[in-house]
Amino acid sequence: VWQGFAVLILGYLLGSIPFGLIITRMAGLGDIRKIGSGNIGTTNVLRTGKKSLAAATLLCDALKGTVAALLAKSFVGPDAALVAGFAAFIGHLFPVWLGFKGGKGVATYLGILLALAWPVGIAFALIWLAMAFTLRYSSLSALTASLISPFVLLAMGDNRTALVFGAMSLILWLKHHENIGRLLSGKESKIGAKSSPAP
Ligand code: G3P
Repeated sequence: VWQGFAVLILGYLLGSIPFGLIITRMAGLGDIRKIGSGNIGTTNVLRTGKKSLAAATLLCDALKGTVAALLAKSFVGPDAALVAGFAAFIGHLFPVWLGFKGGKGVATYLGILLALAWPVGIAFALIWLAMAFTLRYSSLSALTASLISPFVLLAMGDNRTALVFGAMSLILWLKHHENIGRLLSGKESKIGAKSSPAP
């Protein structure tokens, strides 16, 4: 039991590191939460116009999920990897350091998926890229990729992993409620657009 608890806490703590906020602050851009959508993720860091900082945010937010899941897998086992991954995802979305107001989880979701079922992680990334390049909505790309991924896992017979990612997708969708509203009303900002939505 204590082992499971330790995995949960360490996963959460890793996931709760707000890299987007740290990276943009270190670059002297101020508080990313006062820019664009107010989110601390890659898409919003991109709205500062600094592509390298957005890439660094994507890499770090994804890697914290990968590292949490792989550490738990090698030290405890496959079930612990699912627990650690889920905890890291929750840590990113609800970090205690930011009054539980964190990101939307797309990069961290991808990082965990790559750690636990890498072919599905590649599929997630390809769906995201294909949609982002054609329609140019980051949120819609992430919503679609996260909707499909649990079903792919289920089709592969990986029921436990499918269940955990299904739960994560549901939470990811709920965290995107403002984006969904903007998409439906045609007000969502496109990738590379100069204007950005009000926080
Ligand atoms: O990864 C988050 C993305 O799906 C939406 O971000 O800043 O447009 O709300 P944002």
